[in-house]
Amino acid sequence: MQINLFFRKLYLNLFFRTKFIANFIFKTRFIERDKDAYYFDITTYYLIKVLLLNLNSKNKFLDLGTGTSALIALEIKKRVGCKVIASDINKEIIKLAKLNIKFNKEKIYVYKSNFFKNIKSDFNVISFNPPYVSSSLGKKISLSEKFRSQWDGGNKSDQVITNFIKNLYKLKKSPICYMGINSQHLGAKHIKKLVKMHTRLKILKIYKSSMFPVNVYVIKKF
Ligand SMILES: C[S@@+](CC[C@H](N)C(=O)[O-])C[C@H]1O[C@@H](n2cnc3c(N)ncnc32)[C@H](O)[C@@H]1O
Repeated sequence: MQINLFFRKLYLNLFFRTKFIANFIFKTRFIERDKDAYYFDITTYYLIKVLLLNLNSKNKFLDLGTGTSALIALEIKKRVGCKVIASDINKEIIKLAKLNIKFNKEKIYVYKSNFFKNIKSDFNVISFNPPYVSSSLGKKISLSEKFRSQWDGGNKSDQVITNFIKNLYKLKKSPICYMGINSQHLGAKHIKKLVKMHTRLKILKIYKSSMFPVNVYVIKKF
């Protein structure tokens, strides 16, 4: 267990927080990282890959929970060229996301919003890489207090996801949603059960990464 925690800390710090690696993998350029932030994680990487397979220039895309680099929004804007908006619940994260959007010379509006509450623009596709680290594990591996909304999925990892699914269900429109989740934290069985609780929501497809323990769930409301 100690070794496992040690390696988790090591790869979190070496891989996801190294600007050189982020610049190498993505088209997006990055401003200097706040010490509590990270550039991307394996879920971000795989979610972008799946989105690029499915989106086209006619889509109206919402990057929900855009994070400090607005990476998913920027990659979709640069590589698909459709309409893109972004949102986050955390105002400190939004400040950094806006700086990175400006640094990339793109125009993407960022809403401060708890899920869909304040989003005024239209969208027909959503992506969400929700926080799914359990509060106790996050404490053990010293994840950021300042950006707690980045990772904290509550006691059982599924608190934000449960609320997201409820909000998706209540939404008046029926966008397609791509939700990426690390299966080491929450497996497909658990996610299927959460979605099934809402009769009109359906998982259309699950993309499973062959390289990483990440699943992307394609969810639609009927
Ligand atoms: C795991 S991070 C993902 C960041 C980025 N999208 C990525 O893939 O690297 C989760 C993000 O969702 C945001 N978030 C958490 N709860 C939210 C909510 N209720 N509404 C909107 N954003 C939320 C967090 O502030 C954080 O930026």
